[in-house]
Amino acid sequence: MFKSLLTSTLFIVLFSLSSTYGDFDKLQLVLTWPPSFCHANNCQRIVPKNFTIHGLWPDKEGPQLLKYCKPKLTYNYFSVSSFIIFFRTGSFSVLFNLLKSLFLNFLQDKMLNDLDKHWIQLKIDQASARKDQPAWKYQYLKHGSCCQKIYNQNTYFSLALRLKDRFDLLRTLQIHRIVPGSSYTFEEIFDAVKTVTQMDPDIKCTEGAPNLYEIGICFTPNGDSLVRCRQSETCDKTGKIFFRP
Ligand SMILES: *[C@@H]1O[C@H](CO)[C@@H](O)[C@H](O)[C@H]1NC(C)=O
Repeated sequence: MFKSLLTSTLFIVLFSLSSTYGDFDKLQLVLTWPPSFCHANNCQRIVPKNFTIHGLWPDKEGPQLLKYCKPKLTYNYFSVSSFIIFFRTGSFSVLFNLLKSLFLNFLQDKMLNDLDKHWIQLKIDQASARKDQPAWKYQYLKHGSCCQKIYNQNTYFSLALRLKDRFDLLRTLQIHRIVPGSSYTFEEIFDAVKTVTQMDPDIKCTEGAPNLYEIGICFTPNGDSLVRCRQSETCDKTGKIFFRP
């Protein structure tokens, strides 16, 4: 009797701890339209004519988006220097460590390349972007810090890449005759994106200009299902929105 009471108490304690775990109830994948971003910012890369990741933002109902949830979080730079680990820690079998470091090297290299392709740091040149990783670091500390209990740095970035891979928004828009170089109503863009998300996306416009800037797609915390996004209300819903070429 006492034992089962203890067990159930323990259960309740663990359960309530796990619910404070993530402390977020959805994830917003924010995709940027580079021509609009580069029109407003000084870009150092060839402007890609396709959507790129801005960030993956944990969110929960409330007046403001979550941010900087874990102030002491550190960002580990993606690099290809894991061979150093091999030479320093030859404690296990040499072959095992060699294979492990080759594998880690391969993974890190792949992550760096995938991020550089799908999460382009537009404001700096490619070499500095791969080395200094300012946008990735900024996003991770600001937003990745709010889903730490579920996603570590590697799983956070892989999840963002995996979620982005599920949508080809440029193609979706094109199917609905929405192409760069012309203007469309908010509803036209919203409805076109919604055909693939089923749930309300967040269509964002450039501050002070009627340009299509970003599209947010929202998911449940595990990324398995889509949910409605918080609406940023940055677009003029009565006029036209320019899809910059
Ligand atoms: C745009 O990106 C998507 C996936 O992110 C890709 O499948 C598609 O081929 C790209 N389109 C162009 C025109 O590059």
